[in-house]
Amino acid sequence: MTIGEILNYGFDHLSQAGIPEAVLEAELLLEYAMDQERIYLHLHRNQNVSETVREKYRSYIVDRCRHRPLQHVVGQAEFYGLKFKSDKRALIPRPETEILVEEVLEQWQPGFHNVLDIGTGSGIIAIALAKHLASARITATDQSPEALELAGINIKSFGLEDNIHLVQADLFPQGAERFDCIVSNPPYIPSAQIASLQPEVGLFEPAMSLDGGADGLEFYRRIAGGLAGRLNRPGLVALEVGMGQAEEVAEMMTRALPASEISVTKDLAGVNRVVLVKMH
Ligand SMILES: C[S@@+](CC[C@H](N)C(=O)[O-])C[C@H]1O[C@@H](n2cnc3c(N)ncnc32)[C@H](O)[C@@H]1O
Repeated sequence: MTIGEILNYGFDHLSQAGIPEAVLEAELLLEYAMDQERIYLHLHRNQNVSETVREKYRSYIVDRCRHRPLQHVVGQAEFYGLKFKSDKRALIPRPETEILVEEVLEQWQPGFHNVLDIGTGSGIIAIALAKHLASARITATDQSPEALELAGINIKSFGLEDNIHLVQADLFPQGAERFDCIVSNPPYIPSAQIASLQPEVGLFEPAMSLDGGADGLEFYRRIAGGLAGRLNRPGLVALEVGMGQAEEVAEMMTRALPASEISVTKDLAGVNRVVLVKMH
């Protein structure tokens, strides 16, 4: 079987299973099965694939046809140009979360040091920040022991154990430590919408990483309630929000930190995605 033929096999099965973007996914899965760039597949369509690759690719396709997310099938996800281990223990990194990292890097001040990442999941935000901010000392919390386990594996794979401290906590870590920068991508999907999510999300990603309470805003209310006691001056807060949530979250932050300057950044799709709060 050639690369071209096996891609057709992958496409046929994925499209029959109702996987959107079946052409792209057939190629991505072969990239992982062969450990080759996509351009290689295009340039070598007549090359035969080995029995090992065939078997690996078939098992990927079968798995993906059950609507298991591609990142879980291959065990990896890309975020901010970095490769992370990804599995059912934590949310799969989303491209829109890159805007949150981008904003923090842009607004970072030379005197900043202590960072808190609330709800770290697989650790992607903390790790992306630590890779770009040598002076940052990051505390990353999560309530899920499984997510913390996965974050620990990712942190170790980047050699960042000295830069990122993982803590199991309900939002804020115990104690009175204050932070120069507080970031979070909390669960923000309204509870009633969880059942109608696409199977890749609703069946395979942890409910705890999705469910934002009745109106989806529960975590922002609780984070707002803790900010005044935990943010330094000057200080920065960056929160990812769901579609249509930015205005209400910005109002909550104004009430929590009345002297702050608040702004909202859009994602690439034009959705208001990050609420930034600056305390001067
Ligand atoms: C939307 S996910 C974000 C994960 C990761 N930061 C990312 O951007 O991919 C939210 C995370 O918050 C965690 N979480 C839920 N409730 C929490 C709580 N009360 N305290 C701390 N973390 C919590 C979940 O386990 C999940 O890992």
